[in-house]
Amino acid sequence: MGKYQLFICKVCGDPYLGIDAPSRCPFCGAYKVNVVPVEEWGPLWGKPIDEVSRKHLQEALQLEVGAVNFYRNVSKNAKDVWAQKMFKALMKAEREHAEVIVKLMGAEMPDIEGLETDKDKARESIEENLAEFHRREAGAVEAYRMAASEVNDGHVKYFFEELAKIEAEHLLLSK
Ligand SMILES: [Fe+2]
Ligand SMILES: [Fe+2]
Repeated sequence: MGKYQLFICKVCGDPYLGIDAPSRCPFCGAYKVNVVPVEEWGPLWGKPIDEVSRKHLQEALQLEVGAVNFYRNVSKNAKDVWAQKMFKALMKAEREHAEVIVKLMGAEMPDIEGLETDKDKARESIEENLAEFHRREAGAVEAYRMAASEVNDGHVKYFFEELAKIEAEHLLLSK
């Protein structure tokens, strides 16, 4: 058995205390391979980015902010525990993604709730909410795969590749 120690996620930079790396980063959802002992970690951000990266990161931020607002609303309105908790977990992961995006851009975190639109309101039924959830996640996967293929900055490419995997895994969730 390993020792109790500090791990850091290479995608989001958040710290995790445990004996083994978790199967997924508990904060951003990144795959286990990204959660490394602190000695092996360095931040993805704090490096210059070009205009192509900036454009894709800006678009990604909009998707993440919308997702946070929609998932928060669905979680709050949900009648059953499964939907309350699943959408809460999704909201927290998407908020984490937004935080990394603004760090990569060297920007400030926006007021996410203040950016809520009518499209982010919870739908009437769980079926409609799940359909909207799938639509958003599929759109994000497509956008992030495209971003990963188009950006020139290596660290931004890595981020989009990992983010696309995380959102693709979200698509596997259903009731
Ligand atoms: Fe993470
Ligand atoms: Fe996300």
